[in-house]
Amino acid sequence: MRVFVTGASGAIGTRLVPQLIDRGHEVIGTSTSARSAERVRQLGAKPVVLDLLDPQAVRKAVLAAAPDAIVHEATALADASFGRNFDRTFAVTNRLRTEGTDALIAAAREAGVSRFVAQSFASYRHAREGDPIKTEDDPLGPAPSASMRESWAAMDYLDKAVTDAGGIVLRYGVFYGAANDGLVEPVRKRQYPIVGDGGGMVSWMHLDDGAAATVLALEHEGPAIYNIVDDEPAPVREWLPVLAEALGAKPPRRFPRWLARLFAGEGLVVLGTEARGVSNAKAKRELGWEPRYPTWRQGFRAVYASGASTDERGPQQAARTAQSPT
Ligand SMILES: NC(=O)c1ccc[n+]([C@@H]2O[C@H](COP(=O)([O-])OP(=O)(O)OC[C@H]3O[C@@H](n4cnc5c(N)ncnc54)[C@H](OP(=O)(O)O)[C@@H]3O)[C@@H](O)[C@H]2O)c1
Repeated sequence: MRVFVTGASGAIGTRLVPQLIDRGHEVIGTSTSARSAERVRQLGAKPVVLDLLDPQAVRKAVLAAAPDAIVHEATALADASFGRNFDRTFAVTNRLRTEGTDALIAAAREAGVSRFVAQSFASYRHAREGDPIKTEDDPLGPAPSASMRESWAAMDYLDKAVTDAGGIVLRYGVFYGAANDGLVEPVRKRQYPIVGDGGGMVSWMHLDDGAAATVLALEHEGPAIYNIVDDEPAPVREWLPVLAEALGAKPPRRFPRWLARLFAGEGLVVLGTEARGVSNAKAKRELGWEPRYPTWRQGFRAVYASGASTDERGPQQAARTAQSPT
């Protein structure tokens, strides 16, 4: 297949492009600058510089590429720092998820592209009641705070737009697997505490596993939504000490809710104490996907303790990037 990958130079895109090529696909990969286009070229794809927020440019690029499939992996989180105003941090990413998705779907229709797979997000989004682990059929919840409303709405928008168009939505877990993963620096510096009882669940995903699931999703018919997460959704109080240990950091601090609310705001407190995790059973069953890193317990050690990351973008970005719900 000829596969048009947006965000080919990003965290997931750089893992996906080589796996697509290994599987025998031809890849056209987009990025926003000549520098990242060079990275895309080195990965073996045909690079295209494209701003997804320019619908005319999107139309032109898709028609010129004449792909069989589109994979939408663009976000704008490289320089993100997560303060109280979450929606401000996610403003461009939200537009990529709404306007960018619309432009790609319109171009796909015009170019007769029948397969469309898009990045969405699994952790934190479900209704914060009942079972701690949710499936794709369980209801999503409201944003945890007013400052997160636009970001939650953008994820909901993407899920609906893509499935309405017959495509596949991949709700990825929280990314890890690169030296500059957003949580590395805050955990090293003990800036990421266990809040309250630390009962908020997180579902993790190693980047290589996410890329492998994406390759498999391309071979399936939509519409569908899949959670692409590891086998062990876990509360913060369990995974955070393990991550700190893998990084050689001191154990995390513990903050009562009121204190964390003061520093980080209500939204992050709710996520750290009440969020639900998700199940990957449907992706395993229908895509035949098996994560190489079935649990973060093994994955954190493999990536961080050995310094075995394959990310090449350097540690300077880590200082500016913090992991968060995406
Ligand atoms: N599920 C998750 O946990 C999750 C999801 C996404 C990101 N993150 C984290 O966020 C951090 C940054 O992610 P990242 O390294 O993938 O970088 P990023 O800045 O989010 O960029 C991702 C891709 O989107 C492209 N892009 C950005 N703006 C665009 C636009 N207007 N039009 C078209 N394409 C655009 C980028 O191109 P350029 O390279 O040219 O900028 C890049 O190829 C990483 O730590 C990552 O792990 C986590």
